[in-house]
Amino acid sequence: MTPVTIQGREGTSTILIGENFDRLAAHIPVAESVLVTDPNLWQHYGERFPPCEVIRIDTGETNKTLKTVVAIFERLVAIEAQRSTFIVGIGGGIVCDIAGFVAATYLRGVGCGLVPTSLLAQVDAGVGGKNGVNFGGYKNMVGTFRQPAFVLCDPDMLRSLPERELASGFAEIVKHGAIADAALFAYLETHWQAALALAPEVITHLVARCVAIKAAVVNQDEHEQGERRKLNFGHTFGHALEKATGALHGEAVSVGMLIAAALSVNRGLLPQAAYQRLRALLTHLRLPVRMDFDRKAVLEALGKDKKRTGDTVRFVLLTDIGRSVVTEIALAELAAALALV
Ligand code: GLY
Repeated sequence: MTPVTIQGREGTSTILIGENFDRLAAHIPVAESVLVTDPNLWQHYGERFPPCEVIRIDTGETNKTLKTVVAIFERLVAIEAQRSTFIVGIGGGIVCDIAGFVAATYLRGVGCGLVPTSLLAQVDAGVGGKNGVNFGGYKNMVGTFRQPAFVLCDPDMLRSLPERELASGFAEIVKHGAIADAALFAYLETHWQAALALAPEVITHLVARCVAIKAAVVNQDEHEQGERRKLNFGHTFGHALEKATGALHGEAVSVGMLIAAALSVNRGLLPQAAYQRLRALLTHLRLPVRMDFDRKAVLEALGKDKKRTGDTVRFVLLTDIGRSVVTEIALAELAAALALV
């Protein structure tokens, strides 16, 4: 498949969709590479890793911290990693975010490639050059925008994902369709069963479409001054619910998208039928459409949104399937919207 490119301020990223993981060695300086991964990935695929230094880190939002970054820096110093060192993150979104951040900051920046192994990371987190860690109770508070030299997406690696993790990734695919591509949304409405079964042509099409959408957005607005904000659809409530309930990212984003869509209907922007289509598709994909949560904890987490300015939050609404707008919404209106699902 033709690679997709993202032209960042400081470099170009080539996204290789359908490339086999066994070809990784052809894309990196093997003798100078350090691979960052998690114990689970290492157990599944360690034998297929190129012969490089490997650093294993624990994942989960609680490990997405500067402490983990410091532990990697310490290993890099111990092995006398130089400017020519090339860091490769192999894993889900958290590994990719941490590896990208380490590569952007160690010795003021060394080369970096990513192998996102979860569906969520292949269609979103691993692509577009955002990296970083959580800090002070805020999600992704410390980080940079820096494009990895390459992103290798091997659809076969998705086969080892637990069912819940896979479903979580579909939430980000639905997001791309909902905000920017009615045809992608309709394709998923027709092919959801084959998608859940990871039919190769269907999953490759979905990953390729999402990467193309994301690349087009990031090529316009790498540093999220405008268009890229739309990629946060469902994430204001999603991040708050994820934090307050411990749900997986995609599960929380699923409910977050529905709250945002219900708000869009309430404001007269979105037809009720479009809301129902979104709800039906998420249900087909085994994603939650409601969630039990502690209202106080969610409100507290909403108040810790990076996109908040005073009493308002920058928020993405839908005007149709495939069309979205960004607006400022009062925290009080968001609090009331929690009752909408
Ligand atoms: N995941 C949203 C973005 O990359 O902008």
